Amino acid sequence: MNNQNIFNEIRSKIDIVDLIGEYVPLIQRGRNFFGVCPFHDDTNPSMSVSREKQIYKCFSCGASGNIFTFVRDYEHIDMKEAINILAKKAGVTVLNNTINKKTSKFDKFYEIYDLANKFYQNNINTKAGQKAKEYLQNRGIGEDVIKEFEIGLSLDNMDSLTKILLQKGYDALTLDKVGLSSNNHDLFINRIMVPIQDASGRTVAFSGRIYNKKSDHKYVNTKETEIFKKGMILYNYHRAKEYARRDKYLIIMEGYMDVFRASSVNIKNVVAIMGTALTYEQADLIKHTSNNVYLCLDGDNPGQKAMISVGEQLEKIGINVKVIGLSDDEDPDSYILKYGADQFKELINKAIGFNDFKLSYLKKGINFNSDEEVLQYVNSVIREASTINDEIRQEIILKKLAKETNLSYNTLEKRLGEYQKDAKTKINKKMELAKPSNVCEKKKLTQYDKAAYGMLYGMVSNKKYLDEFKNAALYFVDAPYRYLLTEIEYYYKKYTTIEIADFYTYLMDKEDILELFKNIVSYIDNDIINDEAINDFMKVIKDYNVRLEINRLKDLMKNTYDELEKAKILEKIKLLRIGE
Ligand code: GTP
Ligand code: MN
Repeated sequence: MNNQNIFNEIRSKIDIVDLIGEYVPLIQRGRNFFGVCPFHDDTNPSMSVSREKQIYKCFSCGASGNIFTFVRDYEHIDMKEAINILAKKAGVTVLNNTINKKTSKFDKFYEIYDLANKFYQNNINTKAGQKAKEYLQNRGIGEDVIKEFEIGLSLDNMDSLTKILLQKGYDALTLDKVGLSSNNHDLFINRIMVPIQDASGRTVAFSGRIYNKKSDHKYVNTKETEIFKKGMILYNYHRAKEYARRDKYLIIMEGYMDVFRASSVNIKNVVAIMGTALTYEQADLIKHTSNNVYLCLDGDNPGQKAMISVGEQLEKIGINVKVIGLSDDEDPDSYILKYGADQFKELINKAIGFNDFKLSYLKKGINFNSDEEVLQYVNSVIREASTINDEIRQEIILKKLAKETNLSYNTLEKRLGEYQKDAKTKINKKMELAKPSNVCEKKKLTQYDKAAYGMLYGMVSNKKYLDEFKNAALYFVDAPYRYLLTEIEYYYKKYTTIEIADFYTYLMDKEDILELFKNIVSYIDNDIINDEAINDFMKVIKDYNVRLEINRLKDLMKNTYDELEKAKILEKIKLLRIGE
């Protein structure tokens, strides 16, 4: 990466402990700070942050890096974006062309979406957009919201966008691939266009809503493409995350209109799940904004059901879930329109805990005259109570249940005890299952790999170890180690010393090498590096190389029929063995 100096300047102006502390609570232990690693599913503080070295590393999953990699990976954004965010924070100006633009094969896709987005937005402001504007205005969506969410319009015409893009030089096949046209025809015709952005804020898809005619499909979405994976995206995430961090909670709604409406009354910490189930990736994105989530899906039965499944998924990864209740025929959009922002904020204040919501949901529609239904209801409530870690609350729930069903408290309590036993064995099983995969993320290293890791780490922290390695005429057989070694040598030549935190930045556009370097830093403890350890590493590496060479010669000998040649090879092997 060029312009390393500017990046180093930014890096030196932002303390990594302060920065990470804004995302993850850190506690000081000795020289280092510790927190729960945000890069794997965990509740233990396995990530350490070093003020001295200005790096972080996780002992469990092998993540490590500097401020740039942290922001990039935490925010799920690209490097360019991460540098811009941190430059702003540091008060350093970074010219657009300073960042070595890594050309990605998807650049063209993003460009096309950018153009399409501008085209649609322009349309809605022309005469052709009058009806669409009226429709929005009638629903109380004004100019400010249209601008904020970049709402546009696709024309009532078979090929207006396709034509423009072809004229700009994009080929028909690419336009098919990005999901905007098919056989030289537009896929979006006469719809109000809502651009969908990824976590970096780049437009990667559209959703088009009908507004002036009938159709079986209220919305038409872009198909999944290489830049649009539905399960990875939450609508409005890139705008909402800052507000959610500031307000310390995020609100989850169902649709675009709900987000528009909330924003119009200045509630900005809102994302929409776009009417689908929640994936693990989406839950992870949510966790990176706040640990407190308010669910406010539609009041109808599908909405309530979805709240149960979304809420359970969020609770599983340690998020506190509350539910904002709406009546059957309302969604956040209609509620705010009808009752106003203040009353909606009142609803937020009165949100109920997720467990309470589940209990009331279980009770809905139960016929208390049917023994079977009552039995089912009793079992489901007790099962729910068994997952609550609070004896007083459990007692309250059972007392209420006893009253509702005319059953004795003792009977219910006995069942609770049984379920709790079940739950415990289940949790233990789950932990057993979860553990190995966590540990496995870290590669099992051979004696040789450990030595190579230690050696390379030593070279980065002190140039004399690089010189010793070279003077001993040692080398790495494996390409990744060799490549990293080359980079270390080059860096010393150019900058004379290596600051580990800056070395990460230097490796940023060499992804495989960076990956190896991350693993090395997270695996090797700085304190073990000294002259004696380095000597041991060099010996292991040397033995390994000798053994490989002997094996190679032996193979060679097998395939050699000339006796004189054979004798020569044997001699070489002998010499190597003596050296060994
Ligand atoms: P309005 O009906 O205009 O209030 O829109 P809405 O955004 O509030 O839609 P609704 O509450 O009916 O649905 C919630 C979300 O589900 C929408 O925002 C869409 O993301 C998605 N959705 C709804 N209908 C469709 C559809 O017909 N097709 C697709 N692909 N998605 C839909
Ligand atoms: Mn709606």
